[in-house]
Amino acid sequence: MSDKEIIDLRSDTVTLPTGEMLEAIKHAKLGDDVYGEDATVNKLQEMAAEKMGKEAALLVTSGTQANLTSLMSNCKRGEQVFLEAESHVYWYEVGGVSAIAGLLPWPIKSESGAIEPEQIEAQLRPKGVSFPDPTLICVENTHNRYGGKIISPTHVKAVSEVAKKYSLKLYMDGARIFNAAVALNVDVKEFTKHVDNLMFCLSKGLSCPVGSLVVGDQAYIERARKNRKVLGGGMRQAGIIAAPGIIALEKMIDRLREDHANARLLGEKIAKIKGVKINLKDVQTNMVTFDLDPSIDCELFLIKLKQNGIFALAQAKNRVRMVTHRGIERQDIEKATGAIERILSKN
Ligand SMILES: Cc1ncc(COP(=O)(O)O)c(C=O)c1O
Repeated sequence: MSDKEIIDLRSDTVTLPTGEMLEAIKHAKLGDDVYGEDATVNKLQEMAAEKMGKEAALLVTSGTQANLTSLMSNCKRGEQVFLEAESHVYWYEVGGVSAIAGLLPWPIKSESGAIEPEQIEAQLRPKGVSFPDPTLICVENTHNRYGGKIISPTHVKAVSEVAKKYSLKLYMDGARIFNAAVALNVDVKEFTKHVDNLMFCLSKGLSCPVGSLVVGDQAYIERARKNRKVLGGGMRQAGIIAAPGIIALEKMIDRLREDHANARLLGEKIAKIKGVKINLKDVQTNMVTFDLDPSIDCELFLIKLKQNGIFALAQAKNRVRMVTHRGIERQDIEKATGAIERILSKN
């Protein structure tokens, strides 16, 4: 099967750089970024800070490095961090929050990826010799394990009020925050103005090959620069990573709408297929998750899909995740749903 015939719905991280990005890499003005001398990196960082309405930004290698750098820059070892129980930091980042940042993660189970402010308040304990100091609340937007759900600006604001009340900092893992902003048709600052600092990824729906940005105030970014270095993330001619990032911020944000429209179409078509349960209310951005009837062997279903050139992921026992991105066209949705229908009809 040639690459062209494969419909890869596993993640938006599979997107390849555009021709313009590759061209920009060739012509990028480079320097040693550990000395702060890479003009392309500096430009991207300024653009990112400006877009997010914060003072400064720092280019890092990945979303995981962005989260770890951010945790280390917001907290001291031994402190307590509130996060959603199915958040990426807690589930998929190899326990770096405790193993490397030395923090006590305090997971809170939520209904839909958004921890309620009252839940945080209920978990706060009075200061005491036996308790770690709580310092940070993390929110994830959009929420990966909840199928790309948006945590609304109103909700982020409500969480920020609890954070302020108890002198906690609020951090956003905004890996896909532009998906949330585009879906709600609001400026991304509607989310970011409520948080102290955040990260977002270039290497997901924005199509860059590498990179994420940590964003916050100047003093915070200086701490993050040191923490990135200790994590081995000090890069030299990193302009080759930053150059596509600049194009992403200039040109790739609005097109996320296409991914959302394709996800909606995918969700609507899947909803009509027998043997599948999907809540269309949950399809808010570029992810579609659905549950297979318990009588269906999910592993076998995914193998059969793959034999038809369609790649998807299992997210839980009988839960399948599909993600739309720049490599997916409308006709791919038709092909994918046709294949799902054929496979399940033979089950
Ligand atoms: C919400 C969220 N945060 C962080 C990450 C980590 O990003 P990376 O894979 O670049 O380390 C991901 C990756 O999918 C994610 O979905």
